Amino acid sequence: MKHIALLTSGGDAPGMNAAIRAVVRTAYFHGIKTTGVLDGYDGLVKNNFMELGPRDVRNIIQRGGTMLRSARSEAFRSAEGRSVAAKNLLDAGIDALICIGGGGTQAGAHQLTQEHHVRLIGIASTIDNDLGGSDRTIGFDSACNTAVEAIDRLRDTASSYGRIFFVEVMGRDTGFIAMHTGIAAGAEYVMVPERRENVDELVQALENRSKEKGGSIVVVAEGDQEGGAFKLSEQVKQRCPQFDIRVSVLGHLQRGGNPTMSDRLLASRLGAAAVEGLIGDRSSCIVGIVKGEIAFTPHVEAIAQHKTIEPDLFRLLCDACCLMM
Ligand code: F6P
Repeated sequence: MKHIALLTSGGDAPGMNAAIRAVVRTAYFHGIKTTGVLDGYDGLVKNNFMELGPRDVRNIIQRGGTMLRSARSEAFRSAEGRSVAAKNLLDAGIDALICIGGGGTQAGAHQLTQEHHVRLIGIASTIDNDLGGSDRTIGFDSACNTAVEAIDRLRDTASSYGRIFFVEVMGRDTGFIAMHTGIAAGAEYVMVPERRENVDELVQALENRSKEKGGSIVVVAEGDQEGGAFKLSEQVKQRCPQFDIRVSVLGHLQRGGNPTMSDRLLASRLGAAAVEGLIGDRSSCIVGIVKGEIAFTPHVEAIAQHKTIEPDLFRLLCDACCLMM
């Protein structure tokens, strides 16, 4: 193998740059040329390539976003688009491709290998942490830390006024970010799509808490079954008009900013492992960390895996435990 390409696709995640850096430098160490594809799969279809050497990736390990830019490509969704992409790789003399991204990115990568036998490894990267094949995905830790910091700030106002804040966090259809940040920020209630919540119970908890005038934080996952923080807060307001309620949607704030140490380390490990995996003849898989070890999981398996929130975290939120008071 003499020449690999890499791209970042889907939602950007803090740590993607650290992964790019690790791929380029590991490849260089092994005498392999690296080409960066700009704008994700769109760049693959449009032949938007740039050569990358070890000096091109200096000073990026600490930066959020992705130096290769990202996109959610319409062109690549069609079989025709994917044929063009495969041909472009072939014409550029590229032997293998590394795709850094989440579930959508890895599903696209899988289609490319299935249809055109492109040699390919995916790197698990999404703030949502909802992709199989890695216990943690690149960006999740940074996004959670950003959300926790924001909630700590909101807590100051909540406790000064005795207010209730409904804080909506990202996570698409899953509640990983909500659950982890909710516990870490000491939220009074956490709403996640994985569990059908009882609004009566929430109201009861908030009523109890309001007697102490301490204010409350309710962390709501964007995919929550009640329809997000605004809808939920309206339901609560209808039942308890006396509550002083505010809503804060953290949104894309969670995607930006410098990656944490954990994400830089994870991205560096996965970037290097992806290149070494390709050298070792691996393909059609995702590289991740499973139980502390580097693991290569077949794309089909990783995409189909239904990753679940750690059960003990649910226990911390229920009556059996005294953390949420
Ligand atoms: O997958 C990452 C993510 O930030 C999700 O948490 C969120 O639902 C989605 O992307 C937002 O996508 P966009 O940036 O395209 O609005």
